[in-house]
Amino acid sequence: MRLEKTGACIAATPLYPEASMNEDRFRLVISTSNQDKLREVTEILSASWLELVPFSSFSGAPAPKEGSFSLEENALIKARTARDFTGLPSVGDDTGLEVDILDGKPGVFSSRYAGEKASYADNVSKLLDVLQSIPRQERAARFKCVVALALPGGKEKLFRGYCWGHLCFEPKGDNGFGYDPVFVPNGKKSTLAQLSPSLKNKLSHRGKALRSLKRHLRKMHEAS
Ligand code: IMP
Repeated sequence: MRLEKTGACIAATPLYPEASMNEDRFRLVISTSNQDKLREVTEILSASWLELVPFSSFSGAPAPKEGSFSLEENALIKARTARDFTGLPSVGDDTGLEVDILDGKPGVFSSRYAGEKASYADNVSKLLDVLQSIPRQERAARFKCVVALALPGGKEKLFRGYCWGHLCFEPKGDNGFGYDPVFVPNGKKSTLAQLSPSLKNKLSHRGKALRSLKRHLRKMHEAS
């Protein structure tokens, strides 16, 4: 049976038992509607043996129904939704900013910290307001990224990556997205938004989680 990359729906029935191979490349569906994430995922995972296909390129692709329990649960929901619809190996990423003095908040609520339809700027502005009187030494935070891999045979695996640092007092830099302009990684004097995209990917939570995934996929690819 031939698979169409775009256009017609792909049967939800698994077409391959375990990993899905398209000739000699490993075909992987990326389940995200966030273009900033998709750009980073593509840069980090890019490899000659890997074919990355955005879930949004499948016509009729449903939006994953995320919950509010954990990053792990949300990453799995994104990956499963794409895997069940396409029958192909799929990955989902869920990321949160965890601030020590806020007991790990906004965490799983990072995208809607300032409300359901909040923009990146709204969320950053609320965070800076909340932390207004908090001194530098108490502004520690970390990004946690969870990447879920869902395979057609039913197997699933999670990969986690962290980036530790602190929150500064005003936004700086134009690169990156989300909370990058206010997050200074440990060992750096600049925010993530002031670093080049390749340097951010090298030390970021997403870079770490996705490189673990890539090693795992490479082993699967070599074993098939
Ligand atoms: P989600 O994983 O799509 O739910 O992302 C949650 C929110 O976290 C996003 O809306 C961004 O505001 C923020 N976020 C996710 N990844 C990053 C990142 O790499 N840097 C900065 N903020 C991020």
